[in-house]
Amino acid sequence: MKTKTVFSCQSCGFQSPKWLGKCPDCESWNSFVEEDYASPQVISKGRTNLDLPQEEPVLIKDVHIKEEDRLKSGIAELDRVLGGGLVPGSVVLIGGDPGIGKSTISLQFSHQLMRAGAKVLYVSAEESVTQTKLRAQRLGIGQGERLYIVNQADLGVILEFIRKLKPDLVIVDSIQVISDSRLTSAAGSVSQVRECAATLARFAKGTNISIFIIGHVTKEGTLAGPRVLEHIVDTVLYFEGERFSSYRILRAVKNRFGSTNEIGVFEMGTKGLCEVENPSQIFLAQRPTDVSGSVVISVLEGTRPILVEVQALVSKTGFGYPLRRAEGFDYNRLSLLVAVLEKRIGLSLETEDIFVNVAGGIKVEDPAADLGVAAAVASAFRGKPVDIDVVLLGEVGLAGEIRSVSQSILRINEAQKLGFKRCILPKNNLKGLDLPKANTIKLEPVATLKEALDLLGIN
Ligand code: TYD
Ligand code: MG
Repeated sequence: MKTKTVFSCQSCGFQSPKWLGKCPDCESWNSFVEEDYASPQVISKGRTNLDLPQEEPVLIKDVHIKEEDRLKSGIAELDRVLGGGLVPGSVVLIGGDPGIGKSTISLQFSHQLMRAGAKVLYVSAEESVTQTKLRAQRLGIGQGERLYIVNQADLGVILEFIRKLKPDLVIVDSIQVISDSRLTSAAGSVSQVRECAATLARFAKGTNISIFIIGHVTKEGTLAGPRVLEHIVDTVLYFEGERFSSYRILRAVKNRFGSTNEIGVFEMGTKGLCEVENPSQIFLAQRPTDVSGSVVISVLEGTRPILVEVQALVSKTGFGYPLRRAEGFDYNRLSLLVAVLEKRIGLSLETEDIFVNVAGGIKVEDPAADLGVAAAVASAFRGKPVDIDVVLLGEVGLAGEIRSVSQSILRINEAQKLGFKRCILPKNNLKGLDLPKANTIKLEPVATLKEALDLLGIN
């Protein structure tokens, strides 16, 4: 086979004819490795040997889609993240750090789908059949007639098994150990991972079999990360959460069949992952009372509002340059809010170290969190606690104004459900707000950050 070499970024798949220290695409350092590159002609010639199913063109009006076609696992958190169940013929990528629970959730998902009547093939390429059986035993699942398992890493053989078995769902655990024998590069290299995933994706489309691809996120490792695959698959789910905390967040970052940014919250226990039905309650469970720098905000994750606690700590800079640290919140956004607090409110934060943390390991990107973060910093700086029953909503502008947020009614309802008594929100959000009759939460509209801090008694 005629091959030449290229250098590929192990993080995002960017290719270059020469070695680069920093990837111009994803900006990761020292991520380029040399690989054999099979030219497209070589690959496409080989592909026809795989005998992929061919589809005839049809009229688009003759294509019928029924909502009930979606396979529902009954794991509500997962079904919602998928956009209401698994679409037949779709390809889903589950990415995440090693040990976060990708194999566990996939096995649980397989079992649930089997119980719902689907035939499932679990390709356990990383672990032996016995290891997976042990895990299934631990989870108390796997007793059924339609859940098959095989330990196989060769793509051609796997496709042959799928053709014979005709399952509704195939789990490939994980893509980094699968290899296509027609390519010369090693399993786990960018070209192997990309080609195998692309073949699987085309196979899924042609046969209407859904495929779950598991991929490890790697920063420095030698294996190609799932970012290489994002454009090949229909749905990308990422498992987040700190390894040593029991909570896991499954987030849809791409979904051709549902909304993105939808999250599912799980707790890892002794019997696998359990759904967390009311995440707000958990994120607020360990909230300290009567401590400065702690406020509650309402962030929208996909279609669901979640209440989380933001904590700030402000302390005198011991030496030279003041520190700013943000965990779960954008660092640049924090710098901007600190500048607004200095200029518009008059807080002298230039000689203070500032630490902000969103409790529970959740990452907040919603601009509605601004007001809460600014209030937490102000509260910590003044040493005055914020009332425990207040929720804050609002985006902060550079002039210190509070800008409206999306879906305020959902957020207010969630706060009310959890017993909050006051909600400080942007004035503009009050217009045309359709509140339910049994309204026990007091809405306090504000136009500026100063007004909000006055209402909280921390200005
Ligand atoms: P796993 O699904 O193997 O992770 P991944 O496939 O993403 O690498 O999950 C491994 C971790 O989960 C491991 O540290 C053990 C833990 N675990 C539990 O705490 N409870 C359980 O019931 C199971 C099956 C695993
Ligand atoms: Mg695994």
